[in-house]
Amino acid sequence: MASTQQQRIILVTGANRGLGFEVVKKLVNQSTSNKDLILLGTRDLKRGQDAINQLGSPSNVHAFQLDTSSSDSIAQAANVIKQKYGGKLDILINNAGIVSMEQTLDAAREVFATNYYGVKLINQQLSPLIRENGRIVNVASEVGAWTLYDASVDLQNKYTSSSLTEEQLDALVKDFFSAVETNRLEEIGYRSKLPFQAYGVSKAALIALTRIEARSWSGAKGVLVVAVCPGYCDTDMNKGRQGARPAAIGADSILHAALSPANELENGAFYQDGKKQAQVFPCPMDLSKMSQQ
Ligand SMILES: NC(=O)c1ccc[n+]([C@@H]2O[C@H](COP(=O)([O-])OP(=O)(O)OC[C@H]3O[C@@H](n4cnc5c(N)ncnc54)[C@H](OP(=O)(O)O)[C@@H]3O)[C@@H](O)[C@H]2O)c1
Repeated sequence: MASTQQQRIILVTGANRGLGFEVVKKLVNQSTSNKDLILLGTRDLKRGQDAINQLGSPSNVHAFQLDTSSSDSIAQAANVIKQKYGGKLDILINNAGIVSMEQTLDAAREVFATNYYGVKLINQQLSPLIRENGRIVNVASEVGAWTLYDASVDLQNKYTSSSLTEEQLDALVKDFFSAVETNRLEEIGYRSKLPFQAYGVSKAALIALTRIEARSWSGAKGVLVVAVCPGYCDTDMNKGRQGARPAAIGADSILHAALSPANELENGAFYQDGKKQAQVFPCPMDLSKMSQQ
């Protein structure tokens, strides 16, 4: 990270509630006299300001408007960082995410706009601003690994290939969309019975993208790019469902990836609760009957 003299600038997207908010809360509490400047990403400035009020209005937390599904908003956010914050970031936490239980093409496109394409575009635009030894954390999900576990070996091999390119990954995503549209998911190898399949595929794609980004930028200024799962947490995303753990614990999982010394992490890897995870593993529960409550 930056030298101890320098104030770190940390952007957390989708931080007005849920896990992103918990991450900012913990950063505020951990921050020493040389305070980090924390940009609380929010697509709605009023909601962001309300969140800052809930934190007691610390002077080092600024509401930062960013709709991660909008290329205009991302371009605007990059300009604000350049004009207002010296054009530098130390840590970027791509936390904003959505889920949908619908199995339609529109729903899949909406989920991917935030969970995959948005992160990809933000990283393209903001990675040049990341300071030496900085970090990019893509908040993914174990649901991505479960989704690939249920998929065909061919799809597993494609998503996990160490030579996968962005173009090939985009082609996989497009194939998924066209299979959703034509009801051919099983035929092309997506066999998950999870009720939020587009979410799972979007997170599988994000984990694969993280590896590609890490490979492409490897060695550049010592910047690490990692993916992380916060675990199944009690946030609005899981409203009404049983068995979720407190969001504060999920925030610790994210912060481990964001703040651990670089020599304790592997560039491009996927973490949960401080441990490296595989890209493909089975879901330990039967979630097939889960429905939106
Ligand atoms: N909760 C879990 O069990 C769990 C498990 C694994 C992974 N995750 C991942 O963790 C991340 C945070 O999830 P969460 O549980 O905190 O969800 P949440 O409670 O639903 O909060 C989502 C946050 O993301 C924001 N957001 C959504 N789309 C956005 C967009 N296009 N632009 C900017 N902000 C956007 C929301 O803003 P608004 O208030 O404006 O809607 C909100 O602040 C997600 O990436 C999720 O996939 C969560």
